[in-house]
Amino acid sequence: MVDSGPMSAGFREVLKQLDDAGELLRLPKTVDARHVSALMAQAPQATFFEQIDGYPDWRMAGALVSTRKRLALAMGCPEAAIATTFERGVQRPIEPRLVERAPCQEVVWTGDDVDLTRIPIPMMHVKDGGPYISATVVVAKDPEYGRNVGSYRLMYRTPRETGIDLVSSSDMRVYYQRALDAGRPLEIAVAIGTHPYELLAASYKAPIAVDEFAIAGGLHGAPVDLVRCRTVDLEVPANAELVLEGELLPMGWTADEGPFGEFSHITGEVKWNPIFRVRAITHRRDPIFYVLQMPWENDWLAAPVIEAAGLQALRIASVEPVAIRAPVGGCCYWTLVASIKKRPGEGKNALLALLSVAEVKLAIVTDDDIDIYDPDDLDWAMTFRVQADQDVLVVSGARGKHIDPSVRAAALGKGGLPTTAKLGIDATIPEGVPRSHYERLRYFAKDAVRLEDYR
Ligand SMILES: Cc1cc2nc3c(=O)[nH]c(=O)nc-3n(C[C@H](O)[C@H](O)[C@H](O)COP(=O)(O)O)c2cc1C
Repeated sequence: MVDSGPMSAGFREVLKQLDDAGELLRLPKTVDARHVSALMAQAPQATFFEQIDGYPDWRMAGALVSTRKRLALAMGCPEAAIATTFERGVQRPIEPRLVERAPCQEVVWTGDDVDLTRIPIPMMHVKDGGPYISATVVVAKDPEYGRNVGSYRLMYRTPRETGIDLVSSSDMRVYYQRALDAGRPLEIAVAIGTHPYELLAASYKAPIAVDEFAIAGGLHGAPVDLVRCRTVDLEVPANAELVLEGELLPMGWTADEGPFGEFSHITGEVKWNPIFRVRAITHRRDPIFYVLQMPWENDWLAAPVIEAAGLQALRIASVEPVAIRAPVGGCCYWTLVASIKKRPGEGKNALLALLSVAEVKLAIVTDDDIDIYDPDDLDWAMTFRVQADQDVLVVSGARGKHIDPSVRAAALGKGGLPTTAKLGIDATIPEGVPRSHYERLRYFAKDAVRLEDYR
């Protein structure tokens, strides 16, 4: 246990970084918490709300990482390097350290003080089933596997209860199922308003017994400072803005929750989920409520995770990647486009590797002469390097995700998990076709004349 020295960087340090870079808009006038999402959507920068109507102690902020540019700013790297920066952090985990000084516990509400309506949880989208908390770092423990950290949205139900969106495959779902099988509740703690590294680590699919706080430490290049919770046997980032402590009730997937505005840019189905009963709320004396802007911040937080997983899968398959991109049209999650230095057959090996990543359902592979960031270049490769009967790969019955409407999750019933088909397109130069057939047009006398000389 240490009690001195600088604390690992948190939410406020990122706000400052954005401010310094001209990427933070401060709104001094009083706003209705229900209007912050619409205002953030109109703002060209991350947004900071200085006065919230009816919540004099609270301020709100959001859209911190809702573009690739702002995510790269928060990660302190060039935009093209978010995957490799993330990968480096994952490869060098640093164990968290326990501290006593905890800004997140400057104010503690227990007993009758516990009341979620005292927090400005906003309505976000027209069809949402209610206000929900979108920026969660959820911590739990399992007697055998140890600590798990994931990010799960919580929809408001009553002053002391929320849902938890636990329908998809995840370690937290396994932890909850094991507690349920043992007939006991699962204690959780939810930190809100952390550095994006904690969210990135939480959303990374680490093997089940791996502590994602060590991965967050790798991303920071320093240990994450954790503090013991007040009413549950768990630890949370000490510099969080707000923490909810409590338990998931041993009731299974029986309470209706949603619909949510999803990171797929559409409204999901009503889901069946457990209930989170809140036992204590702790927060900073001058708390800032983080409204993670759906869907953009959720998408961009997925990008480095999915891109890094794609790079790793390619390397394990002995294919040399040159560039990788999880386009925002695929919500930085369902689609991976990669260029490779190809040897014969590796277009197909690369597709098999990329399609093994999470729920990626469309993978496109090109040679290294294609700029995968240029949609026209990509279309060109797909037009002239693809023969559909030879270069398209379809895999049926792989793991899918509820919020993709095409998996028809509504037909599954409570607790069911969907499957999906996966599509790979090998847009590399076909074997046997000389590379010279793809030489781009070059203009006659290109180097002999200069436009400036004719103005
Ligand atoms: C902002 C954000 C919100 C998320 N919300 C959910 C959610 O509500 N439900 C879910 O199943 N996964 C959600 N995820 C993805 C999970 O956090 C991710 O699958 C993670 O790997 C789960 O961690 P675990 O398997 O260690 O429990 C979210 C991710 C982010 C970045």
